[in-house]
Amino acid sequence: MERTLILVKPDAIQRGLAGEIISRLERRGLKIVAMKMIQMDRALASKHYAVHQSKPFFGSLVEFITSCPVIAAVFEGPSAVQVARRTMGETDPAKSPAGSIRGDLAVEVQHNLIHGSDSPENATKEIALFFNASEILSYQREIDRWAGYS
Ligand code: RTP
Ligand code: MG
Repeated sequence: MERTLILVKPDAIQRGLAGEIISRLERRGLKIVAMKMIQMDRALASKHYAVHQSKPFFGSLVEFITSCPVIAAVFEGPSAVQVARRTMGETDPAKSPAGSIRGDLAVEVQHNLIHGSDSPENATKEIALFFNASEILSYQREIDRWAGYS
């Protein structure tokens, strides 16, 4: 069982696509184990995107992600990182296959609707930036029971 950090980005909130995006991840089979709406500040954004600090788009990326509240969520499931990334599509929506979130709903790289962790190691670090352990549902068996899976 794996966890991944998802951010529903400002463009998705502004376009009213949060439900659609969360729904696609849920329908794929990943389960929500934590969720909150949060206004990211520059400090959090800089930590979250630290790996991109030297890139030319870093300034506009931080500007964009702090421009309005985002929905942060932890999704859990087998290979959750890869499953979420495949469901999202490529970084550039123009190169994303139809059927993926970015391939169906976005056209440009800066406004690509969703963030998903790119490795289990980074997922662990990113989740810790947004959530305390106590905010994350850890009763997977309970969730399965509620969902009628066992
Ligand atoms: P994310 O981290 O947001 O899930 O996206 P990603 O892994 O698919 O892409 P990444 O390489 O981590 O880039 C982070 C975000 O920076 C913006 N970006 N802009 N050429 C550009 O202008 C450019 N390249 C990347 C995108 O919003 C990307 O999601
Ligand atoms: Mg990334």
